[in-house]
Amino acid sequence: MALMMDSLVLGLVLVVSGAAAVPTLPIVGIPGYAGSSLYFNLTDAPTLVPHCPKTVTFVTAAGAPPPRISPRTSQWQTMQHLTMGETSWSGLMPSEASVTAGLQARSKELTNTVEETDNPWPDIANIDTHYDWRFPLASLEPFYDELRILVENQYNDNNKTKVVLWTSSWGPQVVLAFLHRMPQSWKDQYISWFVAISPIWAGAPLPVEALASGWSEDPDGEPGFFVRIAATRVWSIFGIFPRPGEHNYTFSKDDVLVQTPSRNYTAYDMTQLMKDLGFEGKLEGMNAIVEDEDLKNLAHPGVNTFMPYGYNLTTPGKFVYDKDFKPNPLHIPNMTMQYPVPETGDGYVPVRSAFRGWYEWAQPMKQAGKQLVIKGYPNMFHSNCTNDCVDDIINLVTYDQVPQDAKFNFHPHAKKPEPQV
Ligand SMILES: *[C@@H]1O[C@H](CO)[C@@H](O)[C@H](O)[C@H]1NC(C)=O
Ligand SMILES: *[C@@H]1O[C@H](CO)[C@@H](O)[C@H](O)[C@H]1NC(C)=O
Ligand SMILES: *[C@@H]1O[C@H](CO)[C@@H](O)[C@H](O)[C@H]1NC(C)=O
Ligand SMILES: *[C@@H]1O[C@H](CO)[C@@H](O)[C@H](O)[C@H]1NC(C)=O
Ligand SMILES: *[C@@H]1O[C@H](CO)[C@@H](O)[C@H](O)[C@H]1NC(C)=O
Ligand SMILES: *[C@@H]1O[C@H](CO)[C@@H](O)[C@H](O)[C@H]1NC(C)=O
Ligand SMILES: *[C@@H]1O[C@H](CO)[C@@H](O)[C@H](O)[C@H]1NC(C)=O
Repeated sequence: MALMMDSLVLGLVLVVSGAAAVPTLPIVGIPGYAGSSLYFNLTDAPTLVPHCPKTVTFVTAAGAPPPRISPRTSQWQTMQHLTMGETSWSGLMPSEASVTAGLQARSKELTNTVEETDNPWPDIANIDTHYDWRFPLASLEPFYDELRILVENQYNDNNKTKVVLWTSSWGPQVVLAFLHRMPQSWKDQYISWFVAISPIWAGAPLPVEALASGWSEDPDGEPGFFVRIAATRVWSIFGIFPRPGEHNYTFSKDDVLVQTPSRNYTAYDMTQLMKDLGFEGKLEGMNAIVEDEDLKNLAHPGVNTFMPYGYNLTTPGKFVYDKDFKPNPLHIPNMTMQYPVPETGDGYVPVRSAFRGWYEWAQPMKQAGKQLVIKGYPNMFHSNCTNDCVDDIINLVTYDQVPQDAKFNFHPHAKKPEPQV
């Protein structure tokens, strides 16, 4: 659910300033879709959803981790929020949605981290943001501007100390797009480390299922319907569709992701899948997002980068439906079986997705004189960077102790793929 719930959420930027006892450490945190303490206000909002409140003053859209939308009212309210994103594809972010949004106080992800590890940063400030994570990377120029200014301010406020960008889940993709837009001289001056937790560089099968039929990890609830509605409203979901390719780190012609009685779909067949589901109207937007060069080419970030990822958890890979799809978006197909990816993952995202960054960047970053470290944490759930993971990050950003690379024999198509650390 985090992938999807993640998608509901607006951007936040969160700043951690250093304490006196340790080296001053400016950190700018950019959460994934599911910053837990999201709040937003709707005032007499137009609604497409029956019984949905039109005026909502406070909603916690998702708790992270693990993200949950349990009370029914929250589901309706969040759905209300999502309906506002039901714009046709324009390639542009709407200038000002009739929603003000921000994150209250702090990201729970980071707060948990701070409390659990007794870490030395007492002050967490936050700023409100106006950008909307439902929209694709190419639409986030206002966010990139604000992030640049925030980084520069943090640098200057901390005696010209380079800033750590700390982010997880959808956040690494956004930050990568930001870094692609900044000149190398700026990156060299301002950024010490890019900490990309649970990145989704090669996408994941789960968003496909979310769009096809919805998906639920809560057998008692009915969020399959909810997730499906969410998935159909969130354009940026196409940014985490599984990347086709014949590498170890992509989804190949042999990886059946969706199976119906008369047709199988791989990552190469997403256009056909959208047509068969009746989402033809989304194809222009989907193609623009899939073709967007930030994630298509995946140029390296140009800064020291640490990528912690989780493995050894059963992670959705292939979904089986008992009937062929109907080209009708209102018809929700009946998903009957789920098979995990062979190489395991973090519960939502397969290991190969994090490794795309490793395979594509190891050589060019070495040549560019930048460090690249990837490390797997067994049984670490998506984005749930606690314990060893957060210790490693603290040691890295505070004391410059670079974690050991994962030593891996990872191969998604091998029989017993087990990354070794
Ligand atoms: C939302 O409304 C509450 C109550 O009126 C207010 O305190 C809060 O500042 C508002 N938040 C935003 C982001 O406008
Ligand atoms: C700021 O950094 C400079 C150079 O590293 C150092 O000499 C100075 O003491 C620092 N100032 C403070 C207030 O930490
Ligand atoms: C995939 O991984 C296996 C095992 O590490 C390796 O032998 C093979 O060369 C890799 N294939 C590609 C296309 O990278
Ligand atoms: C779909 O793929 C499965 C294996 O994943 C295979 O058993 C089945 O025959 C295929 N179905 C079609 C219609 O090609
Ligand atoms: C969905 O598929 C399952 C398993 O085949 C079946 O038991 C169930 O009746 C189906 N539900 C609907 C609504 O078709
Ligand atoms: C992987 O998970 C299983 C339980 O599903 C556990 O027994 C095993 O120890 C885990 N492996 C590692 C390396 O943690
Ligand atoms: C996240 O990690 C904490 C600490 O390791 C653990 O207690 C919690 O169960 C984890 N949450 C999930 C969803 O895995």
